[in-house]
Amino acid sequence: MNRVNRAMLIKAPAKFNLGLTVLRRRPDGYHELLSVMEQLSLSDTILLEPQCEAGWRFFCSDPSLSGKENLVYRAAALLAQKADRPADLPGVKISLFKNIPAAAGLGGGSSDAAAALKALNSFWRLGMSPTDLLETGALIGSDVPYCLKGGTVLVRGRGEKLEAMPALPFHWVVLAIPPEMHLSTAQVYGMLKPVHLSRPRLEPLISAIREQRKEPLHDWFAGGLTNTLEAAVISKHPPLQSLKEQFLDLGLHPAMSGSGPSFFALCDSLVSARAAARALQEAGNRAFLCWTISGLYKQKE
Ligand code: C5P
Repeated sequence: MNRVNRAMLIKAPAKFNLGLTVLRRRPDGYHELLSVMEQLSLSDTILLEPQCEAGWRFFCSDPSLSGKENLVYRAAALLAQKADRPADLPGVKISLFKNIPAAAGLGGGSSDAAAALKALNSFWRLGMSPTDLLETGALIGSDVPYCLKGGTVLVRGRGEKLEAMPALPFHWVVLAIPPEMHLSTAQVYGMLKPVHLSRPRLEPLISAIREQRKEPLHDWFAGGLTNTLEAAVISKHPPLQSLKEQFLDLGLHPAMSGSGPSFFALCDSLVSARAAARALQEAGNRAFLCWTISGLYKQKE
């Protein structure tokens, strides 16, 4: 008997880099990294709707992201190829509703792909194991394996070596991006010169999370050097220096996520986080008030 598929609605959360050290350029052109990643409440949504006719089609709420280069499209195409009889896969319309700013260092596209892989594996009953999904995810993009795993994770290699860490203690997060600024990850890595290769030491960050202590965590952000890519990106895009200063004027310690241009700061109090997000928005930035996901349930216990 054929089982009827139900519609599925899934969230794809943004990722951010609490710290990012670029260790070296590899012969394959990628860079060897060490990073601590976490997920945010800010998220995209994917909807799978069963269709009478076989095959799949893709819709994106942002027309500029609705092409075949969209990582959700690539995820669906890769999974369909892996099916024994692709023509027999249950028909599905895959809709992506965007909310996470694109090309901002927040892993929106990677998270969308990870969510699509998990959801389609279940919708099409492909029976792929978590390891199969991680391997497939790595073919789509360096951040996809992390997005499949989620949580507070120490990430190494090109992005595919993942070590789970204790959950980052819950924080409110203020996130801001200057208006109309989008950066391609490939271009940011491409302009890295030896002079930019400052290597933040992530040990104090890692110990603070392992010991679940907020004070050394905040001290680490106050130190200011959290991301190898930051100096290179600011040198090309001076408005980012002014964005950093806006955070500092609000008494916050900003850090850049991934290859930028989004900056974030951790906050303990909702009142101060809300006031800061509003001030950054009034200064003309795209600003968001969000929170970290991993420590959410711990906080409620
Ligand atoms: O893997 P992904 O397609 O997301 O990477 C985009 C670009 O970012 C790569 O083409 C590469 O230029 C750069 N990159 C890198 N080292 C990494 C991850 C990404 O150089 N570990």
